[in-house]
Amino acid sequence: MKVSRRELLKGSIGISLTALAPIAHSSLGKRLLDFKALPSSLGKGKMPAISKDYEYQVILPWGDPLQPSGPRYAWPTNWKDQQEQIGIGHDGMAYFALGKDRGLLVINHEYGRNPHVLGLEDPKSLDHVRASQAAHGVSIVEVAKEDDHWKQKQSKFARRIHVNSPVEFSGPAAQSDLLKNPANNPYLGTVSNCANGRTPWGTYLTCEENFNFFFESDKTFTPTPAQKRYGFSMRGGRYGWHRFDQRFNLNNDDYKNEGNRFGWVVEVDPTNAGSLPIKRTGLGRFKHEGAAVVENKDGRISVYMGDDSRFEFIYKYVSPRPWRDMHNKGVSPLDSGELFVAHFSSEGAGVWLKLHVSHPILKRSFKNQAEVLINARLAASLVGATPMDRPEWMAHGADGFMYCSLTNNTRRQVPNAPNPQAPNLHGHIIRFLEEPNGKRFTWNIFMSGENHYESETSFSSPDGLWADPEGRLFIQTDGDQRNGLNNQLLVADINNGEIRRLLTGVPGCEITGIASTPDQKTMFVNIQHPGGGDPSITNFPRSFDGVTVPRDCTLAIRRKNGGVVGS
Ligand code: FEO
Ligand code: CA
Ligand code: CA
Ligand code: CA
Repeated sequence: MKVSRRELLKGSIGISLTALAPIAHSSLGKRLLDFKALPSSLGKGKMPAISKDYEYQVILPWGDPLQPSGPRYAWPTNWKDQQEQIGIGHDGMAYFALGKDRGLLVINHEYGRNPHVLGLEDPKSLDHVRASQAAHGVSIVEVAKEDDHWKQKQSKFARRIHVNSPVEFSGPAAQSDLLKNPANNPYLGTVSNCANGRTPWGTYLTCEENFNFFFESDKTFTPTPAQKRYGFSMRGGRYGWHRFDQRFNLNNDDYKNEGNRFGWVVEVDPTNAGSLPIKRTGLGRFKHEGAAVVENKDGRISVYMGDDSRFEFIYKYVSPRPWRDMHNKGVSPLDSGELFVAHFSSEGAGVWLKLHVSHPILKRSFKNQAEVLINARLAASLVGATPMDRPEWMAHGADGFMYCSLTNNTRRQVPNAPNPQAPNLHGHIIRFLEEPNGKRFTWNIFMSGENHYESETSFSSPDGLWADPEGRLFIQTDGDQRNGLNNQLLVADINNGEIRRLLTGVPGCEITGIASTPDQKTMFVNIQHPGGGDPSITNFPRSFDGVTVPRDCTLAIRRKNGGVVGS
C-alpha cells in the first residue's frame, strides 16, 4: 500500500503528528472503543485505577511460590527459595493456552535492584549475589480461571530460568571464539529480560536488553570500542555481582568474552520443562527490546526487533524458507535466515539493509558472519541504518502495518522525518508497511506523545505495544507522565487514531508486558518496579502502609460485561 503525500507531510513536518492513513480494512466503520475512558484525575493514586467498565485481579507477585506447594514469600529473599519463586521486574510475557481457561503464563523478570531484592545497597556474600541472580530471568507458571478468578496451579511445566540456568547457543555465531572464555566456563543464564515474542510453533522468545548493567569492575576498566558501543563501563548498573562472581567482573580476563554471551533473543519451549533455553545468534546481538514474529504470505517468518538505546536501530530477521517446512524437518527457522536493519528516508520510504559479511563495507571490518552478528550495532552503523529515538516494542496491526514505539530521546538535537521532535521528550509511534518483496517499506507516524500531552488523552514515553485482530493498538507507558499521572495502559483505534485510557498503575511503576487469552476476555499486564521498590512510595499490591515492600506483579484485566478487552 502506498502512503499518500499528505500523510507523509503530516508525519514529517510535525504539524499533525497524529496523522492517520485512511486504511481500508474490515473493521472500518465499526466502533472499536466503547469503554468509558479513565479520567486522568483518577490516575494518580497509590493503587491502580481502571475504567469503570473494567476490573482487575492481582496475581503472581514477585516472591510467591512458582508452584502452590513451593516456598512461601519472605523478605528479604534467599537464593534457594528464590529459585523456586516468581522473579522480580515482571516485563514481557505470553499466554500459552493448555485448554479452555487454562494456560501457561511465561513472564520475563527484567530487573530488581539490590535494595529491593536484598534490602542492601551491595551484596555482602555469594549467597546474596545468587539470590539477586535467581530473581532475574523468566518464570513459567500454570494458571486457570475458576469461578471467574485466575488461580495458580501445580504444574509439570512450571519452572524458573535464571542467571545460573544452563543455556545453549545456536545459529551462525554459536561456535565463535568470541563466545568462549579462557576459564572454559559453561554457557549459563539470561539477564535483563525485557520484552518478548512468540513463535507460530508455540515457543516463547525472551529478549535480553540492558545486559551491560550486570557487568562491573572494582579497578580501572577501559572498554574496547565494541564493549563501549554496548555500554559496558566500570560501574555497570551497581548490582555488585562481580564482587563474588568473577563471571561478571570486567577486569577478569578469564571471563573476557562473558559479555558477548548476553544481548540475544532466547527461545524457550514452555511445554517442555526439560528443554534448554536457546540463544538464537542469527537474530543479532544488541539491546533487544522485543521480537515480534509475523508469518509472511510465502510462509516464511519475519522477526521485528527494536534496539532500545538512543540513536539505535530497528532490525528484521527473515527465515530462509517457510517455517512449517523447516519446523517439520526439525530445523529451526531462527538460525539460518538473514538479518536486516532499517533505513528510513525523508520521503516516507524505507529500505532494509542486509547485515552480511559479504557486504563490501562489512568485509573490511569483520572476519566472518559470527563477528557481524556479535557486533550487530557496529555493523548496522557501517551500512547506514537510521538512528532512531529508542525503538522499543513492535506490533503487527490488523491493517498490516508494523507499529513501533520510539519511547523518547532527550539527546536528539537535530530532527528528521522519522524522528521529528528534538529533543523528543514524549516519544512517538511509527508504523511501516512492507512492500511485497520484503526489501522496502513505506512508513508514517501514527501518533506522537507531544500532540497529546496537554490533553485528557495525555501520554508520554510509549513502550509496550500489542495489536488485536480487530484494529486496536494497546499502548503501555514507561516514563514521567503529565501532572503526576501514573504510568498507564491506553487503547487506540488504528483506523481513526482515537485513544482512551484503560488503566493506570501505581507511583513509580512502569506498565509493561501484555498477553491475552485466545478469546480476548482476559488481558494480563504487569506492574513493574512499583515505587521503584521504595515502601514509602507505595506498598502495592498491599494498600498503603508506608512499610511493606512493594512487589512487582501481574494484573488480570477483564471487562465487567464479559466483552473483549479493549472494547
Ligand atoms: Fe526494558 Fe527498553 O525497556
Ligand atoms: Ca522496564
Ligand atoms: Ca520496555
Ligand atoms: Ca522503556
